Amino acid sequence: MRFFIDTANPEDIRKANDIGVICGVTTNPSLIAKEGRDFKEVISEITKIIDGPISGEVAATTVDAQEMITEGREIAKIHPNMVVKIPMTLEGLKAVKVLSSEQIETNVTLIFTANQALLAARAGATYVSPFLGRLDDISTTGVALIEKIVQIFRIHQIKAQIICASVRSPIHVMDCACAGADIATVPYKVIEQMVTHPLTNQGIEKFRIDYEKIFNK
Ligand code: E4P
Repeated sequence: MRFFIDTANPEDIRKANDIGVICGVTTNPSLIAKEGRDFKEVISEITKIIDGPISGEVAATTVDAQEMITEGREIAKIHPNMVVKIPMTLEGLKAVKVLSSEQIETNVTLIFTANQALLAARAGATYVSPFLGRLDDISTTGVALIEKIVQIFRIHQIKAQIICASVRSPIHVMDCACAGADIATVPYKVIEQMVTHPLTNQGIEKFRIDYEKIFNK
């Protein structure tokens, strides 16, 4: 399983890129809004930090396929690494069909059922993004959806890659890896949580104390 970072914050992307663990970025309208700057400006900055797929979503107000197609083409022009993120609707699928026929990569977002993932893949999506955490939020088991999509894509040899989205904790990450997902897109905070362990910190401290007892006195 590979890692993308789920943020539009250039500083967090830089930090995650520096430790060599991520190979792509996902953004969404809420994450872009958090940066408080123009979409193209933020996305262009991100393309300079990381050399890998960068998902930029069509505007949150766009619901019509033709508008999504027009916007998608504009997003794709920003940089060759751009992936156009499209919401899982009938209009969204129409847009995915057209964009993928133009060799523009797409990421179908807001997927909450295996049927949605299957349809998105059949429409030509490069990536499908099932949302784990938001399912957990409503007292359903998010990881069960990931397992089901992995199973269906294997049985039917579907090439679309599964990005586990709405990942909120290291346990989510482990669950996605065990389920056989292609990618987990994780916030920087979760990457930090995955790195740290109290026994690692205690071990470092003990090594320091033992070493200094002999060599620094
Ligand atoms: C990524 O593609 C999604 O937009 C993101 O993971 C959503 O996460 P959230 O449910 O924590 O907002």
